[in-house]
Amino acid sequence: MKIMCVVGSRRKKGNTSILTQEVLKPFEAQGVETELIFLGDYDIAGCSGCEGCRDSYKCLINDDMQKLYPALIKADALILGSPTYFYNISADMKAFIDRCYCLEVFDESDRSVWMGISEALGGKYAAVIAVCEQDNEEDMGFTVEAMVKPLEALGYRIVSVVKALHAFAEGDVSKNDRAMKEAEQAGEKLLKTLRLREKIKNSIGKTFPGMTQGEKNLQ
Ligand SMILES: Cc1cc2nc3c(=O)[nH]c(=O)nc-3n(C[C@H](O)[C@H](O)[C@H](O)COP(=O)(O)O)c2cc1C
Repeated sequence: MKIMCVVGSRRKKGNTSILTQEVLKPFEAQGVETELIFLGDYDIAGCSGCEGCRDSYKCLINDDMQKLYPALIKADALILGSPTYFYNISADMKAFIDRCYCLEVFDESDRSVWMGISEALGGKYAAVIAVCEQDNEEDMGFTVEAMVKPLEALGYRIVSVVKALHAFAEGDVSKNDRAMKEAEQAGEKLLKTLRLREKIKNSIGKTFPGMTQGEKNLQ
């Protein structure tokens, strides 16, 4: 089992970072492999819309995003965290998400038919964290939807969404007991979901012989 966590704020000690690391705690306590990515450490250009990825599933832009694709494919679950910047996700998170376009495959003759590579490989799971300064949820704007909708399109099932309001300065969110608890619970739920998947995979063959082999063929 492997978990990938992507932080869309450049403040490494900021609120998004604190909350996303809280989500990781239940995994770390169980010795599950986790990878924490601060997008600010990576040079990731916006998608150029060249459609060069159409047949190969490979993005043609040669930058740091190439380092993240293998981890994305391998991870069983993805945690995305972004601060609200003008009612939306940060530019770093938007660039990261847009560059996942190569992991979305369309039918050649009917572009209303598409599938995420994750979905084709058997489904993956995700949690989303959003942090904003204002007290009113409306001031978070589209931050949650801007992560949830692309993740769903890419074949992830969203297990938990954590919204933390009223966090401005670095570390403010640590004082928000409710948000910290919700982040930890989001991690626990994601872990339980993955354990349930393991249990089903390991036992399905008893009821339906051959099913486990079919699953292996997909991987
Ligand atoms: C460019 C920018 C735009 C922002 N826009 C909003 C906004 O639309 N609504 C809001 O409530 N907070 C907004 N904020 C405040 C941040 O969301 C808030 O400080 C958050 O805690 C930052 O998270 P971080 O500590 O992970 O960087 C904005 C901050 C910046 C720097």
